[in-house]
Amino acid sequence: MDRIRIVGGRRLTGTIPISGAKNATLPLMIASLLTDQTLILDNVPRLADVALLERILGNHGVDIMVSGKRSGETADHGQTLHISAAHIVDTTAPYELVSRMRASFWVLAPLVARMGQARVSLPGGCAIGTRPVDLLIMAMERLGAQIEIDRGYAVARAPRGLRGAEIVFPKVTVGGTHTAIMAATLAAGTTVIENAAREPEIADVADCLNKMGARISGAGTQRIVVEGVARLGGARHAVLPDRIETGTYAMAVAMAGGDILLQNARPELLQAALDVLQQAGAMVTATNQGIRVARNGGALAPVEVTTAPFPAFPTDLQAQLMALMTRARGTSHIVETVFENRFMHVQELVRLGARIHLQGERATIEGVERLKGAPVMATDLRASVSLVIAALAAEGETIVNRVYHLDRGFERLEDKLGRCGAEIERLSG
Ligand code: UD1
Repeated sequence: MDRIRIVGGRRLTGTIPISGAKNATLPLMIASLLTDQTLILDNVPRLADVALLERILGNHGVDIMVSGKRSGETADHGQTLHISAAHIVDTTAPYELVSRMRASFWVLAPLVARMGQARVSLPGGCAIGTRPVDLLIMAMERLGAQIEIDRGYAVARAPRGLRGAEIVFPKVTVGGTHTAIMAATLAAGTTVIENAAREPEIADVADCLNKMGARISGAGTQRIVVEGVARLGGARHAVLPDRIETGTYAMAVAMAGGDILLQNARPELLQAALDVLQQAGAMVTATNQGIRVARNGGALAPVEVTTAPFPAFPTDLQAQLMALMTRARGTSHIVETVFENRFMHVQELVRLGARIHLQGERATIEGVERLKGAPVMATDLRASVSLVIAALAAEGETIVNRVYHLDRGFERLEDKLGRCGAEIERLSG
């Protein structure tokens, strides 16, 4: 299993290109199931989760071609996928695949909408809490699907097609909102989704679906209206930049010190996180090429942050912010309200010398003068990158084990940081 070795203490200077967003790419690829025509996606990141979803879609009969590099293109350019679900040969998504990536459960919606049936494994437990799918199932039922749970699978049928309905989510859910939108595009009549998730990736997917012929309005707000259409066609769409990757590297610079241009990043996608970074003492400037983040000397100030759905501070940056606050001058508090149990990074940060106290959903972080490198273990995607951030400021060598978690969501992380001066390398095997 690969590991990453980091020697802390280097400043970061230069440019980091921001990749396409993982959390938009996955539902966009899944949306290809809604049409028998080709969907072309540009700016697709090279990630383990994307490769896994290619396999899952392949199992349904979806054909995916990756365009070759054009002249002048480098690894910094995203890939282009040509996805054709002209022939769906199987409407079952098996446990072996769905259990490895929760978002693959979302195939349920387009399969039922287009094929009238699907059998999708329930995703099972997950390192960051229970993460149920009850609200996704509720949305499908509201649209007229009959769903039963049979031997670990959600078995859904809508032999006469889905019909529009009002869906009121009791809790904001990204997956629930994607599910409701995708299913409603091919339902008969109008669907109104209340208390919808407002994450930018929802609006990006809705944009693409509208290019495919869907009639969605209000995506990006709490109330989304979908007028069902008889069929969707092909389209070409470029994935929006990854706001979580952006925020992660912004925190890395704030931690290590230096001056970095986050190329292609868009400030409006993560304003809450940028505000927190400025409070902490980083300099953040929007430029026409992206976002510039700098910190030159000076102590980090402690912050008080509560995670919540967009536009608030994202749960997917909570672990990274906590790593940063381990070096603040004073005591910070971070409250995690989106996922229970999303604090697995705490014990690993403590191994590097952090002082963190947990009480329910609230973490108290007492800033320390210095961190010291140690072997640590990645437990999930965001937790593992928080260890990288801490290691950038730790004295001596840190080895991050179980790097496959990182590869799920961060493209060529060691390369991007290494080119900006970090002492970081991948140890293979
Ligand atoms: C998505 C993101 C993930 C991010 C999360 C919250 C993708 C691929 N993943 O995950 O990176 O951390 O949003 O921003 O986009 N819930 C229920 N019942 C359900 C569904 C969700 O109770 O049926 C709860 C969850 O347990 C959680 C909250 O709702 O407490 C939000 O989860 P949700 O927004 O659905 O997360 P995902 O879509 O799985």
